[in-house]
Amino acid sequence: MKSTNITWHDSKVTKEARQQQKGHKSPVLWFTGLSGSGKSTLSVEVEKALYEHGVHSYRLDGDNVRHGLNKNLGFSPEDRKENIRRIGEVANLMSDAGLVTLTAFISPYREDRDAVRELLGEQEFVEVFVKCSLDEAEKRDPKGLYKKARAGEISGFTGIDAPYEEPDSPELVVETDKLSLEESVESVINYLKENGHIE
Ligand code: ADX
Repeated sequence: MKSTNITWHDSKVTKEARQQQKGHKSPVLWFTGLSGSGKSTLSVEVEKALYEHGVHSYRLDGDNVRHGLNKNLGFSPEDRKENIRRIGEVANLMSDAGLVTLTAFISPYREDRDAVRELLGEQEFVEVFVKCSLDEAEKRDPKGLYKKARAGEISGFTGIDAPYEEPDSPELVVETDKLSLEESVESVINYLKENGHIE
């Protein structure tokens, strides 16, 4: 903590008022899973479905955020922790602004995800485990990174020589190696409806 002598200023427009104005709640959908598991693909489609449903949303994606806000971070456990901490804080602001926020980061460490859960609160944090076997993710290898990791050209690659800790009790599990993309999207949208986040 380097910031000192700082004061919190409250807004006159509350989060609840913003949600009411928009006609929906503003949870954070936290997609977690291996590289190549389908986090980005699924979150893009869910975002589109929400938009078509009149829901205000915004999506934060690992590769994109690492081009800007987090371009000074690598893939060591410490950097991944800081990556997830910053995204958690940004997601919290977006949720406060009344947006359904979608994040697509590997977020391999349980402790880091749980810290975001703590920050957002149980009501707002929807952990979506994008489940896909390593075999299948490696077969897809959309960016050719598994191949590079196997060849020793990338070290500390999740699933190869860096861990992925599966969620213990995620709000939702989407098995992208068993469901079609449409079915996967539907399961997320249904979850949001059934739990009163959207109508
Ligand atoms: S996280 O672990 O900190 O959550 P994040 O989701 O931001 O990762 O970024 C993952 C993306 O970075 C992968 O989809 C892949 O394209 C790229 N990447 C580059 N190096 C690595 C690595 N060592 N491990 C995992 N992904 C990597």
